[in-house]
Amino acid sequence: MPDSTMKSPLGRPGYIQAASYGDADVLRLELDHIFKSSWLCVGFANDLQNHNDFITFQVGPHSLVVQNFKGVLKAFRNVCSHRFSRLQTEPCGNRALTCPYHGWRYDGEGRPVGIPQNETAFGLVDSDRAALALESYEMDTVGHFVFVRMNSPGPSLKAFLGEAWEALAHVSDICVERIEQISYEVGANWKLGVENGIEAYHHPLVHSDTFSNVLQQDILMNVYGPHCTHEGALTARSRRWWDTIADKARLELSDRQRDYVSFLIFPNVVTTFTAGALFTFQTLTPINASRFRLNSSSWLAAGSGAARPLVIGSLNAFSARVRDEDLKICEIAQSGVAERGIDRPPFLGEVDNRVRHFQAAYAERMEAQHV
Ligand code: FES
Ligand SMILES: [Fe+2]
Repeated sequence: MPDSTMKSPLGRPGYIQAASYGDADVLRLELDHIFKSSWLCVGFANDLQNHNDFITFQVGPHSLVVQNFKGVLKAFRNVCSHRFSRLQTEPCGNRALTCPYHGWRYDGEGRPVGIPQNETAFGLVDSDRAALALESYEMDTVGHFVFVRMNSPGPSLKAFLGEAWEALAHVSDICVERIEQISYEVGANWKLGVENGIEAYHHPLVHSDTFSNVLQQDILMNVYGPHCTHEGALTARSRRWWDTIADKARLELSDRQRDYVSFLIFPNVVTTFTAGALFTFQTLTPINASRFRLNSSSWLAAGSGAARPLVIGSLNAFSARVRDEDLKICEIAQSGVAERGIDRPPFLGEVDNRVRHFQAAYAERMEAQHV
């Protein structure tokens, strides 16, 4: 074990065992102890503007649906009360909350109010319909972002997010246009994805020709509850690029943050806010113990300059390159961590300070150190 054999004044063992990055039993515990009790970002308010607009979100085996019922947003388990079919099958769309199997239709309280052949086959009265209502979840929004908490009771979204609530409200006011939305699977445990997203130590090797040109290496961490931020300065080259772009595209920039700040919203949201103009928002959600889904969106400040389409194309091409580099290294890291017989946590240095914070928050919620 590193802590008994090494005398480093700065490095120490982390809190998550290597074997936890590929174990189905650990994932079941994570769903119960971390995901169900946290507010999870499941999508965007922009996609839920009209009656019957819906979004779905999958976490492990669980599917949630958030749907607009005449202007009121409600969140339910995405499983029919009849014989348990999936209700909404697309990531988003506009469709009544009706089961595709036998046609039970649900209202905003989750009650089955339209049941084919009810009189002759089921005979359900109002009290039966209430008893057969869908399992509902708490939901709330801040700015562009829709959050759901599966377990009740618990803290409000605002209390859970702490400083991140105001930050999300602010960037939603500034970064009004969604310029990219993409979703794909990565062959790695979700924790590897989060940990990769919150440290900059890998930038010189993994992003030698991309992100390394953007961000200086000195990065400052701030902690609030299980969440944390990294703040850093843009390189001179990036600063010049953004100054030119802000001018040409007439971007309406934030007056608060003109360099770079990255938020980790525990457990699985990683965001960056760059040059007071560009916000990226990523959720990393387990599919199974060795696979996660990355949902990534980018939002740009308003602006009326003719150069805007070119700027958007350039930003999206850059993001795609960085994501691809991260995806590849996560899958390489997973192939190492998936080896059997490694019975210790990682050895973390000062450069891993946000990884350490994430692992400590994780271990605390799993109710055991060195899970
Ligand atoms: S399973 Fe949904 S209506 Fe039958
Ligand atoms: Fe990266």
